[in-house]
Amino acid sequence: MKKNTSVVVAFIMLTACFSAKLATPSASDVARVSNKFPNYTLTNLNAGKVLFEEHCALCHGLRNPTSRNEENWNKIVPRMVKKANRKKVRIDEGQQELILKYLVTMSAGPKIKQH
Ligand code: HEC
Repeated sequence: MKKNTSVVVAFIMLTACFSAKLATPSASDVARVSNKFPNYTLTNLNAGKVLFEEHCALCHGLRNPTSRNEENWNKIVPRMVKKANRKKVRIDEGQQELILKYLVTMSAGPKIKQH
């Protein structure tokens, strides 16, 4: 009984840890960037998140979108895509854009302005 409880607690902590890591885009994120990225949808943002998770943890851990600002991501993403493509991962231009826009959007949530 006691052992079971600690397994459950460990599991909950683990899940909390994972879900806290990567922000999932919501309708309010779409609204927040609607001037910057006109006609951008929640589907686009989520597609960017999936691509980011698939391709950007091959060589190092996933970097939190909030760890960099827009200017940084504009420079870093093309550089990383080149690195990835050299390793036979194929990230095309459309996918690069989805990843970049996901990161830029999620880098600047209203509640997470930080230095
Ligand atoms: C082929 C391996 C590889 C892949 C794939 C890769 N990275 Fe990197 N990444 C590196 C290496 C090596 C470094 C450290 C050296 C450097 O900065 O160039 C790095 C550094 C970084 C940094 C810190 C750089 C800085 O200037 O602050 C960020 C942020 C980053 N990667 C994001 C990403 C993202 C986003 C993707 C997906 C598009 C990605 N990485 C995919 C190898 C990779």
